[in-house]
Amino acid sequence: MSYPYAMESSVRVFAPATVANVGCAYDILGFALEAPGDEVCISLSTEPGVRITAISGDGGRLPRASNQNTAAVAVQAFLRQIPLEQGVEIEVHKRMPLGSGLGSSAASAAAALHGINYLAGTPLSQTELIPFAMEAEKAACGSAHADNVAPALLGGFVLLRSYEPLDVVPLPPPPNLYYTVVHPEIELRTEDSRRILKKEILLKDAVVQWGNIAGLITGILQKDLDLIGRSLNDILIEPERSLLIPGFESVKLAALNAGALGCSLSGSGPSLFAFSASLQTSQAIGTAMGSAFADLGIKTQKFSSLINCSGPTLIKPSTHRAA
Ligand code: HSE
Repeated sequence: MSYPYAMESSVRVFAPATVANVGCAYDILGFALEAPGDEVCISLSTEPGVRITAISGDGGRLPRASNQNTAAVAVQAFLRQIPLEQGVEIEVHKRMPLGSGLGSSAASAAAALHGINYLAGTPLSQTELIPFAMEAEKAACGSAHADNVAPALLGGFVLLRSYEPLDVVPLPPPPNLYYTVVHPEIELRTEDSRRILKKEILLKDAVVQWGNIAGLITGILQKDLDLIGRSLNDILIEPERSLLIPGFESVKLAALNAGALGCSLSGSGPSLFAFSASLQTSQAIGTAMGSAFADLGIKTQKFSSLINCSGPTLIKPSTHRAA
């Protein structure tokens, strides 16, 4: 089968970091950030196979093997459905911390998938790329959850209504909803912070969590920021994972005192996120959270913006196809 290839044989793609879970919605909701994110340069090659040719920004820690690196795993999964005659070379430029709870592995996979789909002539939609990125998540942390990869590929908020079958529901963000993300210089492996979670929950706790998830989704759809804030209450996962983050309670309190609508862990942590109704407030929240971590001697990176609605973007198509 042949596809209407793009004119280029090489493309550079940015894909965003993401906040998964969004408080109470463990494994089923995420949103995309304007920054940080990863860049991937992906090129068609006369040499068969999928190869990682360079990685920068990881301190030499990411796997180069194409059955372990998330960008390569995702591209190989894509090629099983959309075979190409050429091989593929991938450069990964990490522009975000590893083990941060900001969807680092998902950003690389999303960028690589957007790039290979573009070079193949865009045979698949962004939504159709999600299962390939889930294979990469499984390689990275043992679990094929999609609450990072789906918003990294689609932008905005994305609800995973179901995994079997996969049912992906994009949700447009309220136009005046700002995020603050604070990344403390601590590293947590997603695999570890999933393993510590209790496997069973009480029905009475599930009822509280269901109410908050329903309130959060309704708040997003009705653009009701107060309802979003009231619903950002995770009584199941946050109490267990927050124990892994020094100063979690004081940092969360600092965010709320600085005007946050709500605050919780970003993905599996250690980053935290907060929502607010203006850029100024979101920056003040970042400063307050950063100070609370600094009181414990922990350095931070801070990011504030409206939610990213674009998903991955092409940075620089290059090298025109020779024939
Ligand atoms: N939903 C996932 C978790 C996101 O909380 O473990 C981390 O990748």
